[in-house]
Amino acid sequence: MSNVMLANKFASQTLPNRFALAPMTRISAEVNGDPNDLMADHYEAYAKGGFGLIITEGTYTDDKASQGYANQPGMISDSQVAGWQTIVNRVHEAGSKIFVQLMHAGAQFQANRFTDQPLAPSAVVPVGAPLGFYGDQKEWQTPEAMTASDIQVAIDGFSQSAANAKAAGFDGIELHGANGYLLHQFLSTHFNQRDDNYGGSLDNRLRLVVEVVKAVRRAVGPDFAVGIRLSQVTVTDPDYQFPEGQSGFQRIVESVRDAGVDFIHTTDGDVRRTPFIDGDLALADVVAGVEGLDLIVNGGIDETNFHDAAGDYPDALLAVGKKALANPDFVQRLKDGKEIADIHFAMLQPKATIRNELAWRKENAA
Ligand SMILES: Cc1cc2nc3c(=O)[nH]c(=O)nc-3n(C[C@H](O)[C@H](O)[C@H](O)COP(=O)(O)O)c2cc1C
Repeated sequence: MSNVMLANKFASQTLPNRFALAPMTRISAEVNGDPNDLMADHYEAYAKGGFGLIITEGTYTDDKASQGYANQPGMISDSQVAGWQTIVNRVHEAGSKIFVQLMHAGAQFQANRFTDQPLAPSAVVPVGAPLGFYGDQKEWQTPEAMTASDIQVAIDGFSQSAANAKAAGFDGIELHGANGYLLHQFLSTHFNQRDDNYGGSLDNRLRLVVEVVKAVRRAVGPDFAVGIRLSQVTVTDPDYQFPEGQSGFQRIVESVRDAGVDFIHTTDGDVRRTPFIDGDLALADVVAGVEGLDLIVNGGIDETNFHDAAGDYPDALLAVGKKALANPDFVQRLKDGKEIADIHFAMLQPKATIRNELAWRKENAA
């Protein structure tokens, strides 16, 4: 079974294999953002199911405008850190490593217990409609363009949350720079219409991302694993393309590396999709061609094609989303040659909560 099931060095960690659980929002924390036992059971199941690395759902980073969903977990209070500590311990006891995904929703704001006012690079709403399986909002609210002090609050939120994550015992941090959330919004010419030094040229659009990476690196020190997830597409806009094409994406990758990330996690509809307005590389190919970075690839990996992704990107981790939802023991099933189930989206209805998934499983137990 090639080398996917062998121990693997990744961003200063030794992982039991090359499979990672992709980050998946489950809006199942307490109202105040505390992670709970339901979440601990949930993440432990993936560790017991063989995933070498667990990447958590997007977790909010400040008490201003970072939260995007009701019942989203946070990383900003003592009780949130304590809740995560329990989850980290359970995952470690099961033999896996765990990174937290730190996320600021920006304009992709559906619910926030601290404010009714989304903040984003500019007063621009996302393409499409809010996500029904995360909340009942029918329309996006128009965000306010962030001031210099709003930007500083966001940077400080990321760095303090990174320090909190380290204190909670996490093995690393993934910054959410993909799928249309705040860091991606600054990179995107759809969301970012600013005419100050955070908007316009690619270097200006990169400024916030670079400042966040540097601040996080300072907060956690040189030896802690820090990476960033990057995409072109957003959760509601599968067609967005960076105007600077492939070389622009390479510049983003090199800039975050120089600012201090150890790894990049690319996500697209399919690992091998060639999404740029020019060139014929996949996102992951661009990262693989840049020195000094570890790589996680994501998009459509399943039991039929994981060998291809593993061969195309030797040493990369393979992050699995929907197939993992359908099979929390996906990795163990591969090892044992057992059948792998397909995803049934009914398990995420009417909301993508862990409780709804468990109820669906009970009803549909073979
Ligand atoms: C229910 C659900 C929640 C998700 N939440 C997140 C999230 O919090 N952060 C993130 O970066 N991606 C999130 N994603 C995207 C997945 O991480 C992954 O990129 C996507 O499902 C494609 O990978 P797959 O083809 O293996 O499913 C979510 C996907 C699903 C299905």
